[in-house]
Amino acid sequence: MPKNEKISNSVIRRLPRYYRFLGELSKEGINKISSRELAERMRLTASQIRQDLNCFGGFGQQGYGYNVSELRSEIGSILGVDKQHKAVLIGAGNLGHAIAVHINFEKYGCKLCGIFDSDERMVGQTIVGQKIIDVDRLSEFCRQHQPRIAILCIPKSAAPQLCEQLIGLGVKAFWNFSHYDINLEHNDIIVENVHLGDSLLALNYGVSNSANKTEE
Ligand code: NAI
Repeated sequence: MPKNEKISNSVIRRLPRYYRFLGELSKEGINKISSRELAERMRLTASQIRQDLNCFGGFGQQGYGYNVSELRSEIGSILGVDKQHKAVLIGAGNLGHAIAVHINFEKYGCKLCGIFDSDERMVGQTIVGQKIIDVDRLSEFCRQHQPRIAILCIPKSAAPQLCEQLIGLGVKAFWNFSHYDINLEHNDIIVENVHLGDSLLALNYGVSNSANKTEE
């Protein structure tokens, strides 16, 4: 059993990447791997990998390496991929639509159980087999289905009021694309903020930096 209480946030942040790499190894038919080989593939150090995986009791055996599928399923269970937490998606515009269509929620331990929008032209349309529901029915829906996760694909201006409502209805975690800082008002709520622009800026910094170096 994993010793969860000892896991640091930085290790947790690396777990999805381990999980993804181990999934790829499984697909390639690789059943065991040494920490050195795994480190080379993931561009980490072998000691970093041993340290990380030791947090969960260490799955490796000296001289054998790691059993890929066992390790993957242990990490998967630490990440909760088998939990199927119910999630609602708010805002079925360009972004919300793309997320509903392209994210395989069940693979990541969630079940998308409702898609909501306030635009009456969208209500009743179908995405991924689900009818878009009028956001006016959100409270009634949440009382009935008790989702614990909300995915916010709405403008920032609409987010504060919706967050209050959703938290009041028992939502505990947000996958937040809205650019609204939920933890400002609710520091006990689990929030994953996604800002694609930040990632692009980091890329831009890299390009600018390498351009400067070449110009020097
Ligand atoms: P969009 O205008 O296509 O979709 C927004 C949808 O939210 C609309 O269908 C609208 O009717 C709905 N909506 C607005 N207020 C609502 C409310 N109170 N309840 C329910 N539905 C409501 O816009 P798009 O392109 O999908 O972007 C959505 C938001 O996500 C934007 O504010 C944008 O800034 C943000 N965004 C964030 C990104 C990120 O990396 N975090 C990337 C792209 C967009």
